[in-house]
Amino acid sequence: MVQYSYHEPVLVPEIIAFLVTKPGIYVDGTLGGGGHSLAILRALHDAYSSEGSVLIGIDQDGAALQAAAENLKEFEACTVLVKGNFKALDSIVKSVCREKGLQPKVQGILLDLGVSSFQIDTAERGFSYLREGPLDMRMDMDSSFSAAHIVNNYEEKELARLFYIYGEEPRSRSIARAIAAYRLKNGPVSGTEELAGIIRGNAAGRDKIIKTLSRVFQALRIEVNSELEVLRHALDDGIDCLDHQGRMAVISYHSLEDRIVKTVFAEKARSDWGPKGVGLREPLERGAVSLVTRKPVVAARQEIDSNPRARSAKLRVIEKI
Ligand SMILES: C[S@@+](CC[C@H](N)C(=O)[O-])C[C@H]1O[C@@H](n2cnc3c(N)ncnc32)[C@H](O)[C@@H]1O
Repeated sequence: MVQYSYHEPVLVPEIIAFLVTKPGIYVDGTLGGGGHSLAILRALHDAYSSEGSVLIGIDQDGAALQAAAENLKEFEACTVLVKGNFKALDSIVKSVCREKGLQPKVQGILLDLGVSSFQIDTAERGFSYLREGPLDMRMDMDSSFSAAHIVNNYEEKELARLFYIYGEEPRSRSIARAIAAYRLKNGPVSGTEELAGIIRGNAAGRDKIIKTLSRVFQALRIEVNSELEVLRHALDDGIDCLDHQGRMAVISYHSLEDRIVKTVFAEKARSDWGPKGVGLREPLERGAVSLVTRKPVVAARQEIDSNPRARSAKLRVIEKI
């Protein structure tokens, strides 16, 4: 039994079954503590004795790379860990392959989106309204753009828009108004508890407070890390990198991410049959991928009971044609 102290990965047997179909180059674009990577490497080892396989693990958080390096020690020889953003997946893969003298044709890509349990549980990272910490929320600690900048510098209107679009928060306007009034009176908001206090004072009804806090914190995190823009980019890039019959698996945790994954996968799978009524026998252009999962795969009750993070996980998989 593997112990996951950094982060317990979700849907592991499903990822292995969908993704690990041949030896080759695998990319884990969201390495975290390396839980999924370890499972992929073990499956490759068991099925093909690791020969001809390389796993490229990418994370923008230096702490994740450290934890993963420790967890993946037994497979050090066939693992390359890179600090970077998966929006640069294509150039990272090309540069690693150039160094190793490999063709940059990838067999499997995994994106397990969002933040790790380690990031959420580390108070100093400022991701959680349950822990007092600075208003930070950067996954990449080398970036200079933090949640404090947004909360203290965005105009009320911009804040409201952010909470509405990235948090889908119905009380976005009144929360933005409260933050603007608070900072005018008291100066900059400096910590997670201070911000949570302002939000609590504006949430409608006790039972809704937790949902509102989650939504506002989610909106800030998405903005700080440009999560939705980089996701679009990585899906396009990732599909370009895949070898024939190579697969990409994406696990998302909220509707905004899942909508993007679903839309991009559907667009890439669509063939162009020209204007209606022409009746072509062959499409003008075939879709670049096929949908391996028509509906998102979700975790079984047993997994949700032992790992609550799995509750909102949705897995979608495509295969390059
Ligand atoms: C849900 S965790 C992944 C956990 C991992 N699957 C495991 O088994 O431990 C998401 C990880 O992806 C990283 N991440 C999120 N967005 C990223 C991006 N655009 N580029 C690189 N890393 C990213 C986060 O820093 C975090 O460590």
